[in-house]
Amino acid sequence: MAGMPCRIDTSAPAAAPSVGPLPEALAWIEGEIDALRAAGLERPARVREGRQAGEVCLDGRTLVNFGSNDYLGYAGDVRLTKAASKGSCAEGFGAGASPLVSGHSQAHEVLELSLARLLGVEAALVFPSGYAANTATIAALAGAEDFIASDERNHASIIDGCRLSRARIGIFPHRDLAALDALLTTARDARRRLIVTDTLFSMDGTIAPLAGLADLARKHSAMLLVDEAHATGVFGARGSGLVEETATADGVHVRVGTLSKALGAAGGFVAGNATFIHWLRHKARAWMFSTAHPPGVAAAATRAIALVEQEPDRRRDLVVRAADFTARLRHAGLDIGGAEAQIVPVIVGAPHAAVNLAEQLFDEGFFVPAIRPPSVPAGGSLVRVSLSWLHEPRDLARLAKVLAAHAC
Ligand SMILES: Cc1ncc(COP(=O)(O)O)c(C=O)c1O
Repeated sequence: MAGMPCRIDTSAPAAAPSVGPLPEALAWIEGEIDALRAAGLERPARVREGRQAGEVCLDGRTLVNFGSNDYLGYAGDVRLTKAASKGSCAEGFGAGASPLVSGHSQAHEVLELSLARLLGVEAALVFPSGYAANTATIAALAGAEDFIASDERNHASIIDGCRLSRARIGIFPHRDLAALDALLTTARDARRRLIVTDTLFSMDGTIAPLAGLADLARKHSAMLLVDEAHATGVFGARGSGLVEETATADGVHVRVGTLSKALGAAGGFVAGNATFIHWLRHKARAWMFSTAHPPGVAAAATRAIALVEQEPDRRRDLVVRAADFTARLRHAGLDIGGAEAQIVPVIVGAPHAAVNLAEQLFDEGFFVPAIRPPSVPAGGSLVRVSLSWLHEPRDLARLAKVLAAHAC
């Protein structure tokens, strides 16, 4: 594959153990797997070979890769690899402890300062993953006496954070501000109210009405937490996300994000007011009780932030190409819901239909994953096209053509 100079040493692979029967105490799992298989919901364990760029090598085949969140093409960029090795050489590979103890290295400190600068906020806190950032922060902000209003299409890490908090939870229909208003009115008796939402929704590529959410937060004296996981690096003049793009920073209290998507590294972050971040260091259990991510990873993420600042053309190109691609699919009559960014679902309904379409695309040389329940509601299975700056316009044109041929 072009641009893939080295492979991991597989000369002495561990022999795959043979699969034996389940121990009696776990025998019930067999039935669960049979049920998943029958419903078309069994997942393959795929092994990717080599570094991914606009292409990916899966099951021995090189495919155009529409199945990663590498929106700006930094995940396989050698500049991040070099920053990671330099960071690892300086500070060792493992962090050795939670940030609360001795795991917070200079590389993490520099990363937090870089994030705060990029987002234009006072402070940021880095977590081992975006998942950990959401669960820990939501559970810190709300407890049993509180109320959380959550968009029905929020990411699993937001949902799990809500559950972990033990707060009363109200789910509002996707982006429905009137329903949210009504929900918050019923929660006047709660000690505190918290609104939680993705900014760019990960499964359908729609964008949250941030200005309206901020207005409702003000009206109901609620906190507003937004998850910029898919927007960081892509939107806004500086590339900090949709809060910047929509000029809603004053109304958004907490910004969560991940370093693992457009930034091409790993880890999550929470950003906002410095006193809030200081308090979070005493309350966010996934930060307090989990080993900090490796310093080399933090160094790579810092390098990616610098690249986002230096290479604004990547996000501009991506946004333009995404608009062109979605227009082509709509014109071809495909159901892509309300997609309005670089995540484009092609909705087919049944899990088997999504798997079949993904297989047809695989045969045509494209990796486009099938997304099925529980990632999407029953009846809403889809194949999800994730665009990257690395894709050639001709790849996008060909994919649109192939989708139109197979999915209509
Ligand atoms: C909206 C959203 N939030 C959070 C996460 C979790 O981020 P991470 O992969 O860094 O754990 C994801 C990842 O898939 C996501 O899509």
